[in-house]
Amino acid sequence: MPAEQVLILGLETSCDETAAAVVADGRQILSSVVSSQVELHARFGGVVPEIASRQHLLLINSLLDDALEQVNLKFSDLHAIAVTHGPGLVGALLVGVATAKALAYALRLPLIAVNHLEAHLYAHNLTGINIVYPAVTLIVSGGHTELLLLEEDGSITRLGRTRDDAAGEAFDKVARLFELGYPGGPLIDRLAKNGNPAAIDFPRAWLNDDNARFDFSFSGLKTAVINHLYHARRLNETINLSDLAASFQEALVEVLVEKTAAAADKYGAKTVLVAGGVASNSYLRLRMEQRLSKARPVLQLYFPPPELCTDNAAMIAAAAFPLYKKKAFAPLNLNAHPGLEIGLS
Ligand code: KG4
Ligand code: ZN
Repeated sequence: MPAEQVLILGLETSCDETAAAVVADGRQILSSVVSSQVELHARFGGVVPEIASRQHLLLINSLLDDALEQVNLKFSDLHAIAVTHGPGLVGALLVGVATAKALAYALRLPLIAVNHLEAHLYAHNLTGINIVYPAVTLIVSGGHTELLLLEEDGSITRLGRTRDDAAGEAFDKVARLFELGYPGGPLIDRLAKNGNPAAIDFPRAWLNDDNARFDFSFSGLKTAVINHLYHARRLNETINLSDLAASFQEALVEVLVEKTAAAADKYGAKTVLVAGGVASNSYLRLRMEQRLSKARPVLQLYFPPPELCTDNAAMIAAAAFPLYKKKAFAPLNLNAHPGLEIGLS
């Protein structure tokens, strides 16, 4: 390992994934371990905060060891400890924050507090792409749906966000309605592959007012799916769940794609970056590619590989690297911030 490389240990415990990773210079993943609690939460149909915190507590130390052992590193090889301090579930966040503070104190290393949402964007730094600015970014996760403009000088402007459910939340709620299990996104993605996306014309909330043009709303779509199922059952109609899943996904994806494309057009974007758990959706990838293909080669579209779309600690360590260079270190009384927003200019 070249001596000048900055090795940052990242920790992530904001929701239901316990993760640790070592990243060199914010770009090269040396190790990345993720332990998902999905099975523990599945029977409740969603994440149970108390169970999540307890599970993080059980797993975090052994994951830390795994992340170092995988690459034969010792604690003394590290240059900084980075941790998600928000947004997320407060009890879950606190496990990561307390662990990172203890490590930083004991090892006399700088502590770096990372915003989980911004970290989703940094997943792109781990794939070797060259981001040309301005860049329009769509973050679609279980808790957030945000459309952002990133500029060369590092400034971030929010163009829009969801007014109610996040895209991942809509996937999870519809999957629960279909009794598919949790998390719903990948299950709907799979089910929809055998369905007809044009079978049911579900409503799209376009929110075309000037001040809402890049905002999203998915709760009406979710209600429309509930109503459709309710009436079909009452009338004893045969229900084709694959068609329902495909039509729901079509309605949701169409809005994500059209609003992203309109923002890219309006702001003359050279790059479109998609990030967050829902970025691993195969239909979103396909439709976004198709929609933006006309704008190539001026506009480049990037999705991280699926394992970097969903929560992981490599993105946390990557996001910490510019903060390390700026010496933007956190104090040892760092707290968890469940409602932390993205750092806007
Ligand atoms: O980014 P993430 O791992 O955690 C949060 O920060 O929220 O996102 C999790 C969300 C869940 O709602 C999950 O259902 C959704 O991402 N998701 C997907 C897919 N894989 C994960 N949604 C649609 N299609 C997928 N293939
Ligand atoms: Zn996330």
